[in-house]
Amino acid sequence: MMDNKDQKHQRRIRYKGTHPKSFEAKYKELQPEKYTETIQKIIDKGMTPAGMHRPICVTEILDFLDIKPGQIGLDATLGYGGHAQELLTCLNHQGHLYAVDQDPIELPKTKERLEKLGFSEDILTVNNLNFSEIDLIASVSGKFDFVIADLGVSSMQIDNPERGFSFKTEGPLDLRMNPKVGVSAADRLKEMNKDEIEGMLIENADEPYASEIATGIVNHLHQGKDISLTSDLYKVITEALKFIPYARRDEEVKKSSQRTFQALRIDINHEYEVLYEFLEKLPSVLKPNGKVAILTFHSGEDRLVKKSFQHYFREGIYKEVTDGPIRPSMDEQSSNSRARSAKLRWAIKS
Ligand SMILES: C[S@@+](CC[C@H](N)C(=O)[O-])C[C@H]1O[C@@H](n2cnc3c(N)ncnc32)[C@H](O)[C@@H]1O
Repeated sequence: MMDNKDQKHQRRIRYKGTHPKSFEAKYKELQPEKYTETIQKIIDKGMTPAGMHRPICVTEILDFLDIKPGQIGLDATLGYGGHAQELLTCLNHQGHLYAVDQDPIELPKTKERLEKLGFSEDILTVNNLNFSEIDLIASVSGKFDFVIADLGVSSMQIDNPERGFSFKTEGPLDLRMNPKVGVSAADRLKEMNKDEIEGMLIENADEPYASEIATGIVNHLHQGKDISLTSDLYKVITEALKFIPYARRDEEVKKSSQRTFQALRIDINHEYEVLYEFLEKLPSVLKPNGKVAILTFHSGEDRLVKKSFQHYFREGIYKEVTDGPIRPSMDEQSSNSRARSAKLRWAIKS
């Protein structure tokens, strides 16, 4: 613990003008209970306030799950707890919701937020786990009536520069959803050769300039220069794409940066591997007639979900699966830009 004499008074960073750019300056958005008007204005503009996450396809998920009080459910990706709050409301204090998230930083905050809303341990059990371990949870909870998973990262993770998820803010190039395990994206880049980086960019993000970016990264590191900050990687990408005509360059650099960060995130969090494990274990943790709904945000993960649901449907293990992906309504897509790439698929156990 720090001595009092060592504690410096920290002046709160104020909004600069009406549009704060930095995460810390968005102190109003970080206290949604206190600044409800500010929060509503941001939501009305189709944006997500910093430090918050807006749940997607809530109506579609609840319509499908048709939850009855007394049921046992699992939220495999708790995040901000938006979906969990809706599921708990349907349970009406009868039954139980188990919830997991691999993020040890946001999880306790969400638990506390849900407790303040009246959802304490009698109705909600929260665990810091990877959803690839659903069998562990089911060994305690018993089989589930319903399971939901809302894949990828939360807005809180993207918006927090300390986590290094976005090239738009300066921070360490980390990108781990659980910073206590594995290696940071910066260290991972040092382990890979040019072909591996190129393969990762193509496989995880269909990056059209994969070869140029991989060459840029490897040359930069070979010259003894650092890629330890989000801005370092952004600069390497900008440099590697200098051959693109000026009129298109800014836009292409932005898109390639987005894809490169996504590809790295998928790689270091082993997103395909853990999703595969989760999908393989799902049938064994669902009760007969148990339901599962999964939201995906890019084609790689949607393909895995679709293939798994169809495979187990053909085997007679699922009795019904979605025909095609369900998309958020146009209203939701225009009121929440983060909903635009979402696809929902569901299955019902035989
Ligand atoms: C899109 S957010 C979920 C938001 C949540 N549905 C809500 O309404 O607030 C995704 C969350 O899933 C978590 N996550 C991603 N992959 C995971 C995994 N393999 N195991 C556990 N949690 C995971 C992330 O840490 C993140 O908090």
